[in-house]
Amino acid sequence: MISSRLAVLVSGGGTNLQAIIDASRAGKMPDTTIAVVISDRENAYALERARLNGIPTVCISRGAEFENQLIAALESFDIRVVALAGFMSILSEAFVRKYADRILNIHPSLLPAFGGKGFYGLKPHEAALNRGVKITGATVHVVNEIPDGGRILRQKAVRVCANDTPETLQKRVMEKAEWVIYPKEINKFCKYKAKESAKG
Ligand code: GRF
Repeated sequence: MISSRLAVLVSGGGTNLQAIIDASRAGKMPDTTIAVVISDRENAYALERARLNGIPTVCISRGAEFENQLIAALESFDIRVVALAGFMSILSEAFVRKYADRILNIHPSLLPAFGGKGFYGLKPHEAALNRGVKITGATVHVVNEIPDGGRILRQKAVRVCANDTPETLQKRVMEKAEWVIYPKEINKFCKYKAKESAKG
């Protein structure tokens, strides 16, 4: 079984990373090898989640050398696929072009709604509530040079409840959508990339 080596990029709590780790340990990601977790923030609890599961970690401080150091880390771990999971740094166009069709992201809305520059953290949920939508959800997409603009791979809808706050809506979207579709879509993408590599 050929699998793809995966790097997960994190900045915060790492609940999406935990969902990926749990799915992998349950045997639900046979085409994926979680090779390294990389953070741009040394205090990210996501790093602790990796350590608790025996996954190598790398912390790279933000700044002028960030992307060069990130490339060096990805090459040293022989990474084929990169999954952004609550990663807060903006990657340059040059970096995204170098890793074209190899980076995935999970966004907490049904893109193109409530996506793009500035829509991170609670903001997509605040915007959904302000607009009065009855359905929102999460989107797995390929990362390109347009913020949240790459091709959409999978989406999952979640009902908005009348008494929702941004926090309760975020929690439901994470539990019912993000943590469900991201591990599945990462593994499907890793399988596709492994076959692509096998063809040479
Ligand atoms: C989540 O809402 C996710 O949609 C977004 O970042 C937030 C935090 O993710 N990408 P995590 O708990 O750090 O995985």
